[in-house]
Amino acid sequence: MSKPIVVIGSSNIDFIMKMDHLPARDETVTDAVFMQTFGGKGANQAVAAGRAGGNVILVNCVGDDPYVERMLAGFRESGINTDYIIRETGISSGTALVMIGEGGHNYLSVSPGANGLLTPERVEAVRDLIAGAAYVLMQFEIPPATIARALDIAAEVGTPVVWNYAPANPFDITQLKKVNIVVANEVEATALTGIPVTDVATAQTAAQKLRELGAQTAIITLGETGSVVATADGVQHIPAFPVAALDTTAAGDTYCGCLVVALAEGQSLVEAVRFASAGGALCVQRMGAQPSIPWRVEIEMFLQKRL
Ligand code: RIB
Repeated sequence: MSKPIVVIGSSNIDFIMKMDHLPARDETVTDAVFMQTFGGKGANQAVAAGRAGGNVILVNCVGDDPYVERMLAGFRESGINTDYIIRETGISSGTALVMIGEGGHNYLSVSPGANGLLTPERVEAVRDLIAGAAYVLMQFEIPPATIARALDIAAEVGTPVVWNYAPANPFDITQLKKVNIVVANEVEATALTGIPVTDVATAQTAAQKLRELGAQTAIITLGETGSVVATADGVQHIPAFPVAALDTTAAGDTYCGCLVVALAEGQSLVEAVRFASAGGALCVQRMGAQPSIPWRVEIEMFLQKRL
């Protein structure tokens, strides 16, 4: 079996309301459609990587709420090794409220729950796992000190890190030196660089700045406008696949999970971004986080139709 992709991150129970327009302050929208699904940026990325064919281990903390068994079963069905998921008592799993409005864009509010208990010590306990990994994949829904420890360990043992700076939160920018590939959307790239990212040109400037700050490679995702990729060889724009978006929840997560699988298989960065974009394009056409994440066969069929 190939070396694993170790995902260190969150899992959430998502409560979703989809509506034609989001409520204004003090307004009640009464015709929303409700769904309860499983999400969390770490879990979504692990599911995306598992369904895309990766050998995936998820390092995560869940609570003792009634949703846990179904959530873990879903991970296993997606091919994820759940041996390193810690089950806490006396606390709920992470929870997210997701409101989806016009154009499928989402508005998210997260209560970390057990995700807050994924401590630096718990990451230290999986040092050997990190040492044996093809890649470490992280997001920013677990404590910053845990991210910092994982970056240190990965640097010490020489395992490359793909870090999705999502959601944007205060971060010690000097840590970017330990990140091989940073992935950020417009909002997150703006928060990291201070450069307002609104289009391809500003994303190119911001991506170069992320490299100057220490990341070896920077990818800025621009939704339907595609991706901007900055490496030592220069900056390029890779267009997205045009599709009609129903719900963008977990599109970025699907992108990151697919990206790392393709890289672990030895695909070039450009090929991997194309594979990731195809995964994201399939995801936005369906509702919910994990239910919308595509399988490998779907991604390959999608790409074949666009050759
Ligand atoms: O990226 C989407 C995810 O963000 C949702 O599944 C929600 O749980 C929040 O973590």
